[in-house]
Amino acid sequence: MFTITPLAGALGAEIGGVALATLRDEQTWQEIHRAFLDHSVIVFRDQALAPEHLMRVGARFGEPCFYPFVAGMEGYPYIFEVVKEAEETKNFGGNWHSDTTYLKQPPLATLLHAVETPTHGGDTLFSSTRAAYDALSEGMRRMVDGLVGVNSAALKYGGGRTTMHKNIGGMKVHDTDSAGQYEAEHPVARTHPETGRKALYVSRGHTIRFKDMSEDESHPLIEWLQAHQTRPEFTCRVRWAPGTLTVWDNRCTQHNAINDYHGQRRRMRRLTVGAQTPL
Ligand code: SIN
Repeated sequence: MFTITPLAGALGAEIGGVALATLRDEQTWQEIHRAFLDHSVIVFRDQALAPEHLMRVGARFGEPCFYPFVAGMEGYPYIFEVVKEAEETKNFGGNWHSDTTYLKQPPLATLLHAVETPTHGGDTLFSSTRAAYDALSEGMRRMVDGLVGVNSAALKYGGGRTTMHKNIGGMKVHDTDSAGQYEAEHPVARTHPETGRKALYVSRGHTIRFKDMSEDESHPLIEWLQAHQTRPEFTCRVRWAPGTLTVWDNRCTQHNAINDYHGQRRRMRRLTVGAQTPL
């Protein structure tokens, strides 16, 4: 039986009663898509998904996208493994962000499938940047509506992408020297093309400044918006087990992989889909 169980007040829902690898029923796929738009983060448990199945599920949301800094799996260039080995201390994605906003056309959705998970810890937090936009005062909305963010892959505030990635030994990281070349301007408040709802599209990790403003001038507001959009009431938390698949909407959410499981291995498969110009 197909079920949708919300995870928290602002976003997130667990979908039960479907086996995605063999799901052919078009009506159920439409309901899944509706749930994706309504809840922004959808979670499926116990999904046996080989890489070819993950590609097929991803195709329901959009065309596959390349990630510039990590090599794909053998035979599946669009899927890469997010790995943290037991002896490592740094993790991948351990800061609030929406995926690859430094690209001119970032992916509308990310699919993350858990292969190996720690006994406890290693959850992922999500926040609704749509709820965060809705909660702004009228004056602040007017201000952010007029702003354009300059987004960069350099991870300036995080000490640089090369420094961060070279510490993640379990992943096939490459080409971090080109990080500074990936820069894109996007509206700080973007309109979702399918729901028509506005959401904040700015992050401490990727937005280095606002267009026509200096970094110094931009930084305080970027910091404020980052803190605002990750207030507890705008978040939900996904606990992983092998076979869990989560699909999130990068157009109206941020996520943060919690790094609290040193001494245990975590291995996930990640696919992004649906390159789209934020408007
Ligand atoms: C990511 O930021 O894409 C990784 C999230 C995670 O590993 O939980």
